[in-house]
Amino acid sequence: MDLAYMAKMPNEEFVSRREKLLSQLEDNSITVIFSSQEQIRNKDCHYPFRQDSYFWYLTGFNEPDSILLLVKKQGQGQSILFLRAKDPLMETWNGRRLGVENAPKTLSVDLAYDITEFEQHFLKLSENTTALYFHNKQQSWGTDLLQNILAKNTESNAKSAVQFAQVLDWTPLVDEMRLFKSTNEIALMQQAGQISALAHIHAMQQTRPNRLEYEIESEILHQFNRFGARYAAYNSIVAGGENACILHYNENDQVLKDGDLLLIDAGCEFAMYAGDITRTFPINGKFSQAQREIYEIVLQAQKRAIELLVAGNTIQQANDEVVRIKVEGLVRLGILTGDVQELIDKQSYRQFYMHGLGHWLGLDVHDVGSYSNDAQNPDRNSKKRDRTLEVGMVLTVEPGLYISADADVPEQYKGIGVRIEDNILITEYGNKILTSAVPKEIEDIESLMQG
Ligand code: GLY
Ligand code: MN
Ligand code: MN
Repeated sequence: MDLAYMAKMPNEEFVSRREKLLSQLEDNSITVIFSSQEQIRNKDCHYPFRQDSYFWYLTGFNEPDSILLLVKKQGQGQSILFLRAKDPLMETWNGRRLGVENAPKTLSVDLAYDITEFEQHFLKLSENTTALYFHNKQQSWGTDLLQNILAKNTESNAKSAVQFAQVLDWTPLVDEMRLFKSTNEIALMQQAGQISALAHIHAMQQTRPNRLEYEIESEILHQFNRFGARYAAYNSIVAGGENACILHYNENDQVLKDGDLLLIDAGCEFAMYAGDITRTFPINGKFSQAQREIYEIVLQAQKRAIELLVAGNTIQQANDEVVRIKVEGLVRLGILTGDVQELIDKQSYRQFYMHGLGHWLGLDVHDVGSYSNDAQNPDRNSKKRDRTLEVGMVLTVEPGLYISADADVPEQYKGIGVRIEDNILITEYGNKILTSAVPKEIEDIESLMQG
């Protein structure tokens, strides 16, 4: 399961990530990180395999049923990989395996063993360690395996059983590393953004009344494939008309209607990194007056947010501006009535804007990394996004307005849903939009669609 179709990250990068993690671990510790397993879709059919992002980040190894052990004793770190042994019969049926013998050289790990020998090596290597680093929600098969090994060990030799003075969580350390993208990662994410943008351009060109939502989805997926991205980073949302007001709509099986808008939220996964773009455009190529009015509020908010999302500022600050622009706009259109500040204080806009402004982006579309300045804060993933932005972070900027069909608003605005989403990299000079190739100005969209 080599990612033959993908750009490769140099091996040294995986080595240096492991070294960086090892340098932060307690001495005399053992750290366990699991791969994904194949997932059954039905009976004996599987979903396409997707490696666990943490495991990938630290190994660059794309096989299931594998475990990375990081052992640190007397200040010395070792990377030990457990993987499936080569098996000609299984490989004939189910695909190639790297094999234990090839792993040290191919993946630059110190040692490799057959996964079936994990228990014996884990117990042996755990002797004279005081800390176990383990995250119980990483992979459920791994949690079960480890807990069984420890329970069995305690039962069978009560006196000499392996015991750890402390059990620690390694994920805050790796989350913090993943939040800051390296030069190599940025190159891959630019490519993910560019391919995703090209697919959205194509979708705009291919959309017309009476096509089905999933036909447009397939046009997008085909473009991802053509440009070297085998999969979408998440299930694409192709939502015509009022379907756009369902935030995670992905039935994608309705007919596109003349006069409606189409909201597409789709991004490719390129070399394991996600793009995440949303564009909203008229199915017949021309915005109506009401659609234009809502769209312009969202666009103004999005552009202002991009100006504000620079090093030293926070997502929260940009979102406060976004909320103000939206509430002023909604009052102007008579969708909200009252004093702007009071409407903001009462959060009256929440019925029309009920999600956050953006999220970290990387190996996962909703990538890891604390949204608070204190990475160890138990509330580190809270909705309050007051983390100071720094160079090397990548995030989405995705304001939207969703006026449901049964909202108590002027008739012409009912059922309009608009979101505009780009991906930005925080740089020394401000930020760089990784997805700017796909138009978002009304005139540019209309001329692309009519061209
Ligand atoms: N596509 C998922 C999101 O925008 O958060
Ligand atoms: Mn999105
Ligand atoms: Mn997003």
